[in-house]
Amino acid sequence: MKVFKSSLSSLVFLVFFLNFFLVCFTPSHDSQVIHVHSESPFTLSSIRGNTSPQEIHYNNTDLRWIKFGHGMKKNVTSLERLEEGLARSRAFIQKAIRYKNHTSLVKESFVPKTAIYRNPHAFHQSHVEMMKRLKVWVYKEGEQPLVHDGPVNNKYSIEGQFIDEMDIANKSPFKAHNPEQAHLFLLPFTVSKVIRYVYKPRRSRSDYDPPRLQRLVEDYINVVANRYPYWNRSKGADHFLVSCHDWGPKVSYANPQLFKYFIRVLCNANTSEGFEPNRDVSIPEVFLPVGKLGPPKMGQHLNNRPILAFFAGGAHGKIRKTLLKQWKDKDREVEVHEYLGKGEDYTKLMGLSKFCLCPSGHEVASPRVVEAIYAGCVPVIISHNYSLPFSDVLDWSEFSIQIAVERIAEIKIILQNVSKDKYRKLYYNVRRVGRHFVINRPAKPFDLIHMILHSLWLRRLNFQLPPS
Ligand SMILES: *[C@@H]1O[C@H](CO)[C@@H](O)[C@H](O)[C@H]1NC(C)=O
Ligand SMILES: *[C@@H]1O[C@H](CO)[C@@H](O)[C@H](O)[C@H]1NC(C)=O
Ligand SMILES: *[C@@H]1O[C@H](CO)[C@@H](O)[C@H](O)[C@H]1NC(C)=O
Ligand SMILES: *[C@@H]1O[C@H](CO)[C@@H](O)[C@H](O)[C@H]1NC(C)=O
Ligand SMILES: *[C@@H]1O[C@H](CO)[C@@H](O)[C@H](O)[C@H]1NC(C)=O
Ligand SMILES: *[C@@H]1O[C@H](CO)[C@@H](O)[C@H](O)[C@H]1NC(C)=O
Ligand SMILES: *[C@@H]1O[C@H](CO)[C@@H](O)[C@H](O)[C@H]1NC(C)=O
Repeated sequence: MKVFKSSLSSLVFLVFFLNFFLVCFTPSHDSQVIHVHSESPFTLSSIRGNTSPQEIHYNNTDLRWIKFGHGMKKNVTSLERLEEGLARSRAFIQKAIRYKNHTSLVKESFVPKTAIYRNPHAFHQSHVEMMKRLKVWVYKEGEQPLVHDGPVNNKYSIEGQFIDEMDIANKSPFKAHNPEQAHLFLLPFTVSKVIRYVYKPRRSRSDYDPPRLQRLVEDYINVVANRYPYWNRSKGADHFLVSCHDWGPKVSYANPQLFKYFIRVLCNANTSEGFEPNRDVSIPEVFLPVGKLGPPKMGQHLNNRPILAFFAGGAHGKIRKTLLKQWKDKDREVEVHEYLGKGEDYTKLMGLSKFCLCPSGHEVASPRVVEAIYAGCVPVIISHNYSLPFSDVLDWSEFSIQIAVERIAEIKIILQNVSKDKYRKLYYNVRRVGRHFVINRPAKPFDLIHMILHSLWLRRLNFQLPPS
């Protein structure tokens, strides 16, 4: 596999592959030849050299030791073992792309023919590889509620659900028991709880300044970077933080150099606020009622959806103001309301609609996208600069519609213009993609938590840490 030669001198601590995941996850049309390097998966530079190994010993999936021709046995370091495992995963994924087949996951049905994936074979094989190998170390430093905690309800719930799954519940098969085994390192910081507990009392605007949050996170990084070798060896490239709070992106603003390679897993994935689709991870915002993992299922069959388009919500932000100004309570087919009348049920109305409008509010992400998917209603994304969740692997054009903010006045014409066949296809694809937005505790293959882990896994596949 090729590496970026030009950037090697400045990046000796990391070897970037030629956008491994972007190349792999580009849809493969039959006419298009995907370039796969026929190199053995065995890529450890330290043991390539002149002497070719005579015997390579694995215990199950892990490399154990290597015997060379001259009788010398070399024990491999844990980092070499990790990197060799990743190299083999890359090779399996490339094979699945080349032959358009993949290893099946036991008991998991998977329909590779559906168009919702950019490359179904690559995604499926990559998910299998992740389940086989991925280990995440959760730093133990710090105390609740700012660390090892998080909201598990309401609109920032995914922050707490993820931290709970990976850290507190202590049952995840992906959790490393030893940092030496880990491909990725979670800083179990919760921005939502920091905002809730540190920013109190709030008497004036100056009590609400980002530097307090930034200092806390930077101090935490300094502690773990001094105590362990992992941050320094990758300059943070295999470290991540999960935040659904609007302030999530602010964590790195004060010290961009420190966070240059760090992975920010964010709901607020606004590219004009510095969200980097190739390095950061966009995750959906999910509104969870107390004690529930989702709303009741009220989606109707496609023939029982009398409402063309539906929206209900406050006039937060410019885009929603424009939408409400244009459409509020004006049209019987495009039902746009600021507040619902007494006795009207939001979830039920979504289930009776063909299309659900999902305009950005104060931030780009909106829990409506996931609510629409749960209700079998085709999401209509109306936003600027929103990097859609999981778009490394999912092809959003197959199960949603995007309408430019400038065309809000034309919503009705645009949606009426969607043919019956096209709508039918979108409707069934929404139902197919639903499994990737469902929260299970404990997490299950292909569900939302696995999709987050898979996004991280892809980013880790994208580089190699050379032996020190
Ligand atoms: C392989 O080795 C690792 C660590 O040395 C150990 O935890 C694991 O149980 C071994 N696996 C098998 C199948 O022996
Ligand atoms: C390799 O590891 C084994 C078991 O951990 C140890 O007994 C042996 O001395 C090591 N060999 C070398 C060359 O480091
Ligand atoms: C995919 O097909 C190739 C070529 O036919 C074969 O060598 C490989 O074992 C297959 N892989 C799986 C996972 O079935
Ligand atoms: C990591 O680098 C920092 C800054 O160069 C240094 O202060 C720290 O001691 C290093 N950590 C370790 C574990 O060597
Ligand atoms: C953000 O969106 C605006 C309007 O669509 C566009 O002009 C601009 O180039 C986008 N910026 C980025 C960083 O994507
Ligand atoms: C995205 O970021 C830009 C630049 O800060 C900002 O103007 C815009 O309002 C943001 N979008 C939303 C929906 O918050
Ligand atoms: C209606 O759909 C057709 C074909 O799908 C497209 O060419 C045309 O631009 C659409 N009209 C509007 C107003 O979106």
